[in-house]
Amino acid sequence: MKQKPVICAIVAVGPENVIGRDRVMPWHCPDDLKHFRNTTMGYPCIFGRKTFEGMKCKPLDGRLNLICSSKKIETANDVNLRFVDSIESAINAFGCHSKIFVCGGAQIYKYALDKDLIDVFYLTKIKNADLQQQVLQNPKLYTYFPVNVDSFFTPEKWEKQEIIYPSNPKQNINPACEATFLMFTRRAR
Ligand SMILES: NC(=O)c1ccc[n+]([C@@H]2O[C@H](COP(=O)([O-])OP(=O)(O)OC[C@H]3O[C@@H](n4cnc5c(N)ncnc54)[C@H](OP(=O)(O)O)[C@@H]3O)[C@@H](O)[C@H]2O)c1
Repeated sequence: MKQKPVICAIVAVGPENVIGRDRVMPWHCPDDLKHFRNTTMGYPCIFGRKTFEGMKCKPLDGRLNLICSSKKIETANDVNLRFVDSIESAINAFGCHSKIFVCGGAQIYKYALDKDLIDVFYLTKIKNADLQQQVLQNPKLYTYFPVNVDSFFTPEKWEKQEIIYPSNPKQNINPACEATFLMFTRRAR
């Protein structure tokens, strides 16, 4: 029988549940970029069309980039890039991989959560006091994660684990972008 891939999601969430502004992330956090790269490397990654545009329509290396859209965007030919019309069709077409990553943005996360598609959720929590002030002053400028991460991952449904990187000891944290890496595994449905 064909093995079903583990459906993972990965997101970095800042103060007030913010994930983006103007199609990019409103912080620069090298530790989180490394975490994203290490975690997703080699696996298909699903992105929404707006997030892909925020990446200047450049697919990530070493991963099959699956872009959800009703349109086909003009890009240079790239073996690592495919356009798909739904998350399910991406999962079905590339389900031969052991894991598939849902990589946002907000619309894509919302769809995957509403349909209860996610088996493992990688959540980076970003602390940034300046950004929090800016978000509170101008909330309409930002894109938000569709659920409150502090209440969504209940222990009845999700088993929580913190990922500690030896290269990122807590005493060396950058106060402008303090990152905590969490992993939530969905309990049996
Ligand atoms: N902090 C993080 O970890 C993180 C991660 C990823 C993204 N982001 C941020 O999130 C923001 C973008 O989020 P967003 O919600 O505006 O846009 P998005 O989810 O990236 O893209 C939305 C587009 O995806 C397509 N789409 C959405 N749902 C679909 C579905 N079920 N099936 C097929 N296609 C679907 C539609 O494209 P068409 O209109 O072409 O049909 C829709 O307009 C950016 O600021 C980005 O930086 C943050």
